[in-house]
Amino acid sequence: MKHSDRLLLFLKDSTPSYVSGEKISKELGITRSMVWKEIKELKKLGYKIKASSRLGYQFVSSPDKLFADEIQYKLGAKWMGKRIFSYQELDSTNNAAMRLGSEGLAAGTCVFAEYQKKGRGRLGRVWVSPRGKNILFSTILRPELNSSEVSRLTLMSALAVIKSIESQTGVKLQVKWPNDVVYKGKKVCGILTEMSGESERVGFVVVGIGINVNTTARELPPQSASLRQIAGKKISRIALAQNLLREIENCYERFSKKKFERVADEWENVSETTGSRVAVHMPGRVLEGLAAGVDPDGALWVRHDSGLRERVLSGDVQKLRPGLIKGLKK
Ligand code: BTN
Repeated sequence: MKHSDRLLLFLKDSTPSYVSGEKISKELGITRSMVWKEIKELKKLGYKIKASSRLGYQFVSSPDKLFADEIQYKLGAKWMGKRIFSYQELDSTNNAAMRLGSEGLAAGTCVFAEYQKKGRGRLGRVWVSPRGKNILFSTILRPELNSSEVSRLTLMSALAVIKSIESQTGVKLQVKWPNDVVYKGKKVCGILTEMSGESERVGFVVVGIGINVNTTARELPPQSASLRQIAGKKISRIALAQNLLREIENCYERFSKKKFERVADEWENVSETTGSRVAVHMPGRVLEGLAAGVDPDGALWVRHDSGLRERVLSGDVQKLRPGLIKGLKK
């Protein structure tokens, strides 16, 4: 561990007390002028540290930057976030996590970035996010699933996103099939799940999550919204990231042990798609009908007006008329 990391830990663990320069220099085995230099470096990074000639130093606050140490500090998860890689700039956190996964890194390894040069979305789209405002994150999972079942992890991740946002901000969001998290129809979060494996059995999976956290209206396309806009205040990205990691671990443990098919039932409880009249845009075709729900693998059942049901694996859903049809049987 670097001196500055140890110093920070020491100060944080001592809050709200002041710690004298002498005590720090003894604890870290460095001179008092080195302590002062390290404090200056931490302040440059955005840490607020009070200094008093009589009392010493007092930790006040961390900057809201997604530093790995900040996310790990008092995270309280068992395996999620055991290793965290955090970058100022990257091509894409999904690309980085795919590379780390193929090097054999464990489930729960996370990659965060403040900016992505080649952020990727579903269906080959780009994911654009301004620097330092949002959460751009990917994690490696190693489930015992067949490749056809991997989309269950996307449903699970959407649930984890919704739960963590609600507990952190009080904002209640919904899911729009297949993997958008929305507020009154506006997109707040996108999820991109990718897998690696030669056989039918999955090698590892990367779940990539992009959440609009502190972006302002000017920085967002009209069909999107940020948590800051919805909650009417700035949101701590560190606290939200920690909540999210704990919630992913929670959901994963609950749904593994052969209970992954149950994830679809919980997903339905927060779905804005089920029960709506929809147009599903697929390559070369638009399918219109009633969204009747998802199956355990996350495929959407669409009921044609003729009564026939069709199972849709991918596409973009457009809601045609709001309103839920009660008593709908899947
Ligand atoms: C979508 O809605 O199309 C999915 C968007 C997923 C975006 C996230 S941001 C973090 C991770 N890295 C990427 O390149 N994409 C995902």
